[in-house]
Amino acid sequence: MTPTKPHILGISGSLRQGAYSCAVLRGLQESVRERARIDVFSLQTVPLYNADLDGDHKPAPVVALKKAIRDCDGLVLVSPEYNYGVPGVLKNALDWASRPGYQSVLKDKPVLIMTSSPGMTGGVRAQGQLRQTLAATLSRVIAVPEVLISQVQTKIQDGRFIDVTSLKFMLEAFDVLLAEIRSSPATH
Ligand SMILES: Cc1cc2nc3c(=O)[nH]c(=O)nc-3n(C[C@H](O)[C@H](O)[C@H](O)COP(=O)(O)O)c2cc1C
Repeated sequence: MTPTKPHILGISGSLRQGAYSCAVLRGLQESVRERARIDVFSLQTVPLYNADLDGDHKPAPVVALKKAIRDCDGLVLVSPEYNYGVPGVLKNALDWASRPGYQSVLKDKPVLIMTSSPGMTGGVRAQGQLRQTLAATLSRVIAVPEVLISQVQTKIQDGRFIDVTSLKFMLEAFDVLLAEIRSSPATH
């Protein structure tokens, strides 16, 4: 019997058309196609968190986000850095997904974080903040390697991520994510 490919959910922290973060995510998606399925969830329509809306009748994009996270074996977050921190859209999505506290769809979920930036620091401060936020969700964040992609604009051509060295690094981290998924009691 052929084992089922792990089902990964990819989320970009940028809504921008032509976002480098989305190109990085697509690059990973293509590179692992034989081994895993990565579906990308767009945060475009997720509203701002409002506890008044977080009851029995949540906004449809929030229901879809939570279902997508619940149904996947692992998450890949690819984010830029805004003003030394996590872009609001991604933090907002994690806030929605994190409820109910300590019992949410993020609990025990294997998560790989990757950040990128046109600068030299590769979004390291956003990465640190993401790790801190995810600690509150009890998800299983891959500790090492920390994937930081600096000067990302030089590594993308016609919307395609083409930097072989960075891709190798991303694939090493992805293998750690797959190992974490395999060690999960409830998944592959
Ligand atoms: C509001 C804002 C704040 C930014 N702050 C940072 C920052 O703190 N560090 C950094 O490396 N780049 C920063 N940038 C530059 C982004 O890294 C750059 O715009 C990047 O292309 C955004 O990611 P994307 O291509 O995935 O949309 C900032 C950009 C914006 C729009």
